Amino acid sequence: MAVLVTGGAGFIGSHTCVELINAGYEVVIVDNLYNSCREAVNRIEKITGKNVKFYNVDLLDKQALENVFKSESIDSVIHFAGYKAVGESVRKPLEYYHNNITGTLILCDVMRNYGCKSIVFSSSATVYGDPAFVPITEDCPTGGVTNPYGRTKFMIEQILSDVSVSDNEWNVILLRYFNPIGGHESGLLGENPKGIPNNLLPYVTQVAVGKLEKVGVFGNDYDTKDGTGVRDYIHVVDLAKGHVCALKKIDEMKKETDNKVKIYNLGTGNGYSVLEVIKSVSKAVGRDIPYEIKDRRPGDIATCYADPAKAKAELHWEATKDIDEMCADAWRFQKQNPDGIQ
Ligand code: UFG
Repeated sequence: MAVLVTGGAGFIGSHTCVELINAGYEVVIVDNLYNSCREAVNRIEKITGKNVKFYNVDLLDKQALENVFKSESIDSVIHFAGYKAVGESVRKPLEYYHNNITGTLILCDVMRNYGCKSIVFSSSATVYGDPAFVPITEDCPTGGVTNPYGRTKFMIEQILSDVSVSDNEWNVILLRYFNPIGGHESGLLGENPKGIPNNLLPYVTQVAVGKLEKVGVFGNDYDTKDGTGVRDYIHVVDLAKGHVCALKKIDEMKKETDNKVKIYNLGTGNGYSVLEVIKSVSKAVGRDIPYEIKDRRPGDIATCYADPAKAKAELHWEATKDIDEMCADAWRFQKQNPDGIQ
């Protein structure tokens, strides 16, 4: 039996495939390569020494997805595939709702038709909006989301919860990620955005490698330790291992008859400011990285970090890598692949 990984060639998906294979799972990747590349799959194979089944399929193409389920014995799904840029989602709401929501509806429909009713969904701390309190527990109110991308995450959480209520054979785990950064220790996999990066880490490493001039720091007048935004950065390999633990939890859930939706924050519980991150990357690179203070970015919040206690208690998972390790691994990938991977 195999695990279907939608978006398995992407940043979090590719690292998760490596950890799944290392843990003995058979992996089937479905990815339309919209925001990822085929080479990432080759690199998963290089790191693990195993062949990986890859289908260039768009989730909106129901027939093609059915063919994958026909050809493979899929037992469970980890669903990463989706558009993910906050700013772009404000400009293209219809595309975001259609791709993310319709893609998920088609996936669940096909899963049901083939009797596969276990799904781990790649959600986000964005569902907490401007959080009512920090550290954020899973009980923190959700829904105050400020952009279409975040709303697709929130809506998909609700859709999967409704599906589970309708049929208790479904097992659903919603994983709310904080800020994944870093890369595989080999330097073969990492964050590989197309175009100018939206997120902090790839921007900083692209400045370090000379592709961009200086980092724009979006605001230094927040109510935080140094005035810049504070986030819970988590090493992508730690995050990937969280998915292996979630699949083990699904095996336990299969024996239960109620409580078939479980929600976990995947974060470290520590908050670092933008300036602290730039300093940590500078340490890895061995020289100062230029930056300038700019206006706040619309929609940004001051502080966001997790209370990861529930994941520790129930998934037996916790993050182990510190900020310097995260930044060193992000830099290693950038240095080894100055133009990313194509
Ligand atoms: N930042 C800069 N300069 C940049 C980019 C970012 O100063 O060029 C700052 C932001 O203002 C913020 C911090 O760096 O304070 C992190 O910004 P990111 O864009 O890297 O990440 P966000 O916290 O804004 O968003 C991320 C994911 C979203 C997800 C959210 C959940 O990108 O998909 O975390 O909390 F929804």
